[in-house]
Amino acid sequence: MAHEPGKVNGRGGMPGFRRTRRLRRTPAIRQFVRETALAPTDFIYPLFVTHGSGVRTPIGSMPGQFQLSVDELARELDELQSLEIGAVLLFGIPEGKDRQASGAYDPDGIVQRAVRAIKREAPEMLVVSDVCACEYTDHGHCGVLDGCEVDNDATIRLLADVAVSHAEAGADIVAPSDMMDGRVAVIRAELDRAGFVQMPIMSYAAKYASGFYGPFREAAASMPAFGDRRSHQMDPANAREALLEIETDLDEGADLIIVKPALPYLDIVRQARDRFDVPLVAYNVSGEYAMIKAAAQLGWIDERRVTLETLTSIKRAGASRIVTYHAKEAVRWLRDGDAGARRPISVLDEWGA
Ligand code: PBG
Repeated sequence: MAHEPGKVNGRGGMPGFRRTRRLRRTPAIRQFVRETALAPTDFIYPLFVTHGSGVRTPIGSMPGQFQLSVDELARELDELQSLEIGAVLLFGIPEGKDRQASGAYDPDGIVQRAVRAIKREAPEMLVVSDVCACEYTDHGHCGVLDGCEVDNDATIRLLADVAVSHAEAGADIVAPSDMMDGRVAVIRAELDRAGFVQMPIMSYAAKYASGFYGPFREAAASMPAFGDRRSHQMDPANAREALLEIETDLDEGADLIIVKPALPYLDIVRQARDRFDVPLVAYNVSGEYAMIKAAAQLGWIDERRVTLETLTSIKRAGASRIVTYHAKEAVRWLRDGDAGARRPISVLDEWGA
């Protein structure tokens, strides 16, 4: 709209200027012009599954999150379904670990058992399984070691076995999170060979070597015994390289891509969105969750406002879906904001601000 700074328009002889505040005056008008909306279907909820029964162990650095035994999943699924959250991301904490991560591809392993249980309890729930070795190796690294280094090619063969065993258990999507080269190609080939041509791969395509995974490593007991993951996860300083990683995974056959973490990498989310026409998932990781929880516990921030603002920012940056530990609370808050009426969340206003 042409804007005529020289022109006098209005009372008191004010010069002409654009009044953007016109569209912010009332809740109704703010709602009417809102560009980004959150919905329960945006969220993928991570679950940590452990052996035993009746186990619900709180994760200290992630208030509200638990390690759950398989029998405890039913309760969780009921809650997720009542909130209309339709997807979970599974991590397993095995009973024992070894050098070869054999628990990761054991047909009776923890994730495989959890997948079968979920599919029995709630067949419509979309089950995404994390494909990595770090929770299953006694050294805590993401694959097979050669000396002190992760052996890329041996590891990707192992990961393909893991992916096939998850597919056999009934997972809907496999999500390799290791950042080895060539793993998507090898997983695709092995899934196809095993008859799972229709199994989608959601690759953690741009996964950074991040300090924000700290609480997760407590949750999943996957802290490396020595060294770190910088030889395979990306350098936080690099953006162009992320686009190359994503392109490579797509060329190798990835169907959906993940950028991880989310908040410190929103520029990557935006560039990936603009460049690639595939579903793009952002992973709002454990450290991002822990920061909000900690500040909220100290009374330093308004948890509800900050959480919804954070999730909105990730969606605004271009994420199609968000993996987040906040999913259940977020949906509850969005619903309360709507006074319990089941209108679509896209028309919700005001986050109790
Ligand atoms: C690896 C994996 C990690 C996370 C998801 N998958 C940890 C790592 O790479 O060290 C981190 C998730 C989070 O911090 O919430 N299996």
